[in-house]
Amino acid sequence: MMTCFLNRALSDRVKWLALLFALGVQFFSGNILAQGYSGSGIIPKPAVEMKHSGSFAIQKTTRLHISGSTPLSTAFFDQYLKDVSGFTLSRSREPVPKGINLMVDTRLKLKSERYLLDVSRQGITIKAIDEKGLFYGLQSLVQLIRKKGKIITVPAYHIQDEPRFAYRGMHLDVARHLFSVQSIKKWLDVLAFYKINTFHWHLTDDQGWRIEIKKYPLLQSVSAYRDETLIGHKRANPHRFDGKRYGGYYTQEEVKEIVAYASARQITTIPEIEMPGHAQAVLAAYPNLGCTGGPYQTATYWGVFDDVFCAGNEETFQFLEGVLDEVIPLFPSAYIHIGGDECPKNRWHNCPKCQKRIKAGHLKDEHELQSYFIARMERYLNAKGKKIIGWDEILEGGLAPDATVMSWRGLEGGIAAAKQQHEVIMTPEKFLYLDYYQSLNKTEQVAAGGYLPLKKVYEYEPMPAELNAAEQQYIKGVQANVWSEYLSDASKAEYMIFPRVIALAEIAWSAKASKNYPDFLARLQANGRFLKHLNYSTAFYDITGESVNEAKAFALSTDLPNAEIRYTLNDKKPGLSSIKYSVPIPITKSSTVKAQLFIAGKPVGKMFEQVIVKSMATGKKVTLTHSGEGNYNIGAQRLTNGIQGSYVYNNGEWLGLSGGDFEAMVDLGEEKTIHEVGINTLNYQWQKMHPPKLLLVEVSTDQQVYKEVSRQTVFSVEGINAALHKITPAKARYVRIKASNIEIIPNGFYGAGTKAWLMLDEIIVN
Ligand code: ACM
Ligand code: ZN
Repeated sequence: MMTCFLNRALSDRVKWLALLFALGVQFFSGNILAQGYSGSGIIPKPAVEMKHSGSFAIQKTTRLHISGSTPLSTAFFDQYLKDVSGFTLSRSREPVPKGINLMVDTRLKLKSERYLLDVSRQGITIKAIDEKGLFYGLQSLVQLIRKKGKIITVPAYHIQDEPRFAYRGMHLDVARHLFSVQSIKKWLDVLAFYKINTFHWHLTDDQGWRIEIKKYPLLQSVSAYRDETLIGHKRANPHRFDGKRYGGYYTQEEVKEIVAYASARQITTIPEIEMPGHAQAVLAAYPNLGCTGGPYQTATYWGVFDDVFCAGNEETFQFLEGVLDEVIPLFPSAYIHIGGDECPKNRWHNCPKCQKRIKAGHLKDEHELQSYFIARMERYLNAKGKKIIGWDEILEGGLAPDATVMSWRGLEGGIAAAKQQHEVIMTPEKFLYLDYYQSLNKTEQVAAGGYLPLKKVYEYEPMPAELNAAEQQYIKGVQANVWSEYLSDASKAEYMIFPRVIALAEIAWSAKASKNYPDFLARLQANGRFLKHLNYSTAFYDITGESVNEAKAFALSTDLPNAEIRYTLNDKKPGLSSIKYSVPIPITKSSTVKAQLFIAGKPVGKMFEQVIVKSMATGKKVTLTHSGEGNYNIGAQRLTNGIQGSYVYNNGEWLGLSGGDFEAMVDLGEEKTIHEVGINTLNYQWQKMHPPKLLLVEVSTDQQVYKEVSRQTVFSVEGINAALHKITPAKARYVRIKASNIEIIPNGFYGAGTKAWLMLDEIIVN
């Protein structure tokens, strides 16, 4: 019997998923059983997998042969086999009949990284033209291992597999918080297991310099340390600090150790040495490299800082070249990342040296000065045989001739670079920044902001539709970025990285046509057996809720097909005897919905909780003078859906206007006497979100004559301004709310001089 999963009927797939889910809890507890489970379960999904009948039994006496010139790390395979069986396999120099043979075969018409994996009753073979392919075949083999009682088997399969993208990366910021060599190795193991092949190591930033450079000892003694660290989220006002010196760096020996460890797992390590911005830690040690001469200190909180490398000072270039001279030999990678992001230009604007350089070089402005900076460093690195990567700001003022662009602020940078025939790595913040929240649950650890659930990572399509076939060739791959401002220890980092980076692995490796989120979730659950040693998030079990039917009901949903949801409206914790959810829950008064997911009678994931506030405005028709914009064009009716926006500003509740004013009119449907009015606004300056200058509420009975009933000019210094105003009782059918935008962000705030967002949610009328 042979079944090709690519061609399976949908109904078959649904049955298969149901079966898999029925076994999910067992998989999750690590008790992986082959019974009845017919999918390979491999992540990332292989290009072609065909199941045959029978299986191969791995026994203590089974031998392993690996051909090829360079040693191949089998550590993950050895460890997993040992965990499930208690034994490891002995090696054979010669191919083994009835054994496991990994063979480099250069006669095969395969590309690098491709592999063929065949499992039959007679044995297992993995073939590839290089060690990369063998390594990836071996990772797939590990995922095929099943345990039934004491018997270890591998179901018979023919797998042909190859990556969609050549570059499959994860970035890790170690400047804001450091992680031990041991932790990094542990994560590299998992990245390699899911066929990620690039580790982008963000080694320098305002808050700390993390790589030993022998020529500049003050980098180790000064730049690697900060006096203290911000407590809590940077949006908090005023800032509070812990008073504890923090820091450290990786010695060159440790760097070599990590690079070699990654390399043995087919992972290339690309170092990032930031320039010309994010340089404050360097300036603390070498103030002559800044435009003002200082004094400077290693930053103690998070953000974008004005003090950057002086682009008019030759010593800056000498310093950076000296640094790179020591970095280059540590990293065999063809690429060095030189940052280029978030470099404010105001110091350059006021610096005689920088202005002199602009004039002498016939540069138009400070953006062209940044291009000069990057292009000059590119020439230096090219001469040493290295290519550069930079964040998408390196497009401004003109791209350096051979630079690869990492598109992080959106898709636009990547699209523009590909159109200019530059290579591109897609890392858009909205889809691939793992410092965003992955859950809306209030118990989540503090995160940078924004909402990026596993599903949104998985559903991101890296190839921009705007590019034609020729331009698409320049999209080399895709990467998830892990910024560590709020990751003060390895456990917090693991929680943010896993499992979202596994979704990244699949979108980077697997064919677009095979994308299927429920299928991925099923395989992910089964993969729990490989993740037990990690503090990974199970936010994919989150129940999601939505106000429906003009806010008269509340709908709950889950991405897990065979799970059940049970809920309460009486504030009690939902259990197995609570009401089973089947249709949207009628909501007749202000309520709190609490809900829990159950699989096979066991609670999984965190409890869902949503407060629904009913007022006279809830569910009533809203007319907007201007729709929301960009990500915050959420539709007028969200303003009266009973759900109030939270700090997770992009979860679809906040309506936002960039630079412009807000005006909404609610029709209460009939004339009523009202006593209270309000609308929440969001003051989150790090997201360029500012409270209005003025918030007015007016009422009318005929839509002709309006009377002002409330006026507010003072708002909370930060956070959600949720003032509800008592008014002199007034008769009203129409309630009009006007909020005026401060328009341009004032000096002293993040994004000064650019348009401010005005954010509003939930109109309340009582
Ligand atoms: C970045 O997130 N500043 C690249
Ligand atoms: Zn300068």
